[in-house]
Amino acid sequence: MKHVKLSDDIYYLGVNDRRTHLFENAWPLPNGVAYNSYLIVDEKTALVDTVEYGHMEDFLQRLEDILGERQLDYLVINHMEPDHSGAIRQITNLYPDIQIVGNKKTFPILEGFYGISQNLYEVSEGDMLDLGKHKLNFYMAPMVHWPETMVTYESTTKTLFSADAFGSFGTLDGGIFDDELNLNFFEDELRRYYSNIVGKYGNQTQKALAKIADLDIKLIAATHGPIWRCHIDWIIEKYQKWSLYEAEEDGVVIVFGSMYGNTEKMADHIARTLSEQGIKDIRIYDASKTHASYIISDIWKYNGLIIGSAAYNGGAFPAVTSLLDKLKNMYVKNRHFGIFGSSSWGGGGHRTIQKWAEEAKLEPLGPKAEARCAPNDDDFALCDEVAIEVANAIKNPK
Ligand SMILES: Cc1cc2nc3c(=O)[nH]c(=O)nc-3n(C[C@H](O)[C@H](O)[C@H](O)COP(=O)(O)O)c2cc1C
Ligand SMILES: [Fe+2]
Ligand SMILES: [Fe+2]
Repeated sequence: MKHVKLSDDIYYLGVNDRRTHLFENAWPLPNGVAYNSYLIVDEKTALVDTVEYGHMEDFLQRLEDILGERQLDYLVINHMEPDHSGAIRQITNLYPDIQIVGNKKTFPILEGFYGISQNLYEVSEGDMLDLGKHKLNFYMAPMVHWPETMVTYESTTKTLFSADAFGSFGTLDGGIFDDELNLNFFEDELRRYYSNIVGKYGNQTQKALAKIADLDIKLIAATHGPIWRCHIDWIIEKYQKWSLYEAEEDGVVIVFGSMYGNTEKMADHIARTLSEQGIKDIRIYDASKTHASYIISDIWKYNGLIIGSAAYNGGAFPAVTSLLDKLKNMYVKNRHFGIFGSSSWGGGGHRTIQKWAEEAKLEPLGPKAEARCAPNDDDFALCDEVAIEVANAIKNPK
């Protein structure tokens, strides 16, 4: 690969992973993912994060190619998750005198994963490391996305090395900077990455955003996805919204779990009524079919959410239960919410969703829309009421 620079002395050293099917063995990667690392060449040299173990060969080759006979003086570890720390042992083998820069929460994890406990250079909030022309300043960003996570601000080029924050799924296929790419594609992959990976840490993301608010930022170099140099306000604005759990658009996500189609009929009926009420963006998802990753991403996007389930062994249908479970710790707020379902004896689907909503502090709108076996006219009328209340809440924001 050709060498790509962020500025005169900062190199992009990222790699594309098109092979892994599931990120963290959990989230689909139909468009792959990039692991980004950066090299600063000054009086002192510093590498900011590394890449995933299986993808380090090309990365190490490019690093050695740029450095030539020079030593690597520092490795800055913003985040210890193995998708970025995977090449640390190889780096310390190649450059045994390297100083490893991290904070007090970094080092126990570094030793735990890689048995490395020497040449540590501990930094805390606001500390500065002088590389010559370039000065690195460190800010802690706990839980965005692990407890040891920090961000590094280089004040000469005004570059923020932001770790997972502002990162995206999707490989960098030619274009590496935001102005070289079509952001329509990355907008969805950014939201999916944020909601799936960082989504539960909205409060912590808010704190990190407050810390960087006063920095003059010309470049954001995240550990996944594009490098930001033109749309910096845009991406920060997205993160503000997402971390406050504010929806981006009017619209309704309807998710259902159904074995024999009765609950699905109710979903279609609700969707038609929503449409008659003027709601244009309506997405119906079969929880058994569409991976939760995409459903969660759309839940972040739209301000309406209606969940339905067939009763299943006294509870909700497994695919719905699994989605509710994933959403449980994500503290989704500010959504106009409804429930529906079908059962044949003691119920369980509707009840389970209701209990989940209570814990999530989401208030269901409309009456209890639960059909006994196949939905009849009365059941559809209840579905209408749920749909109309959700539509009204969307059309008449408080
Ligand atoms: C494996 C299985 C478990 C079920 N468990 C319950 C239950 O615990 N309570 C209940 O009221 N109905 C239960 N039912 C009945 C279905 O929930 C009911 O027939 C419903 O109308 C099916 O909706 P669907 O067509 O959307 O799948 C169960 C059905 C199956 C196949
Ligand atoms: Fe991470
Ligand atoms: Fe990551």
